[in-house]
Amino acid sequence: MRTAILASGRGSNLQALIKAYQSGSLPIQIVAVGSDSPGAGALMRAEEAGIPSRVFPSNQYLHRQAQEADILNWMGENEVELLLLAGYMRVLSPSFMREVSFPVLNIHPSLLPAFPGLHAQRQALEYGVKVSGCTVHFVDEGLDSGPIILQEAVPVLQEDTEESLSQRILAVEHRLYPEVVRLLALGQVKRSGRRVQILQQEELR
Ligand code: GRF
Repeated sequence: MRTAILASGRGSNLQALIKAYQSGSLPIQIVAVGSDSPGAGALMRAEEAGIPSRVFPSNQYLHRQAQEADILNWMGENEVELLLLAGYMRVLSPSFMREVSFPVLNIHPSLLPAFPGLHAQRQALEYGVKVSGCTVHFVDEGLDSGPIILQEAVPVLQEDTEESLSQRILAVEHRLYPEVVRLLALGQVKRSGRRVQILQQEELR
């Protein structure tokens, strides 16, 4: 599967995906990395890995539609078959999602549907939950609202700060996201409405 990744920030999930891809454990090809932020660490990581990248600077577009049109063209030029959001901080519009005919995945640092949106780890601490975690889900037209593929729980400790909780969740994210991509590329992710089933190898035959 020809795969593009969009990232806005430091790009540690992007790095985890690149690492898994380069080790040969992901049956995909990461063909392009894009960002809305010229200073994103993710762009440097792509360059180090020799993956072509493109910037779509948010402040250079008057309208989101123009930015999204460029992203759609870029994906078309690269014959993309899978789009992974890895800390991409802009919400993709419903019209963008309608244009895309392949799966779009996202990773979020909470057990959705709890704590969607920004600062999920802070929201979890403020709410006082004892367990949080991370979720990989299909992107739909809403905010962190698409069908859930896999989740993993992370305990919230008494002494946790936003930073310490984020770090422990992040370590799990780096394992979970490549695992989901692997399952998807192997055809083991079956979606029916909001329910997503992970098929075992023997069920594929
Ligand atoms: C991660 O916590 C991810 O779950 C969220 O944004 C953060 C991105 O971190 N969507 P990084 O840029 O991958 O290091």
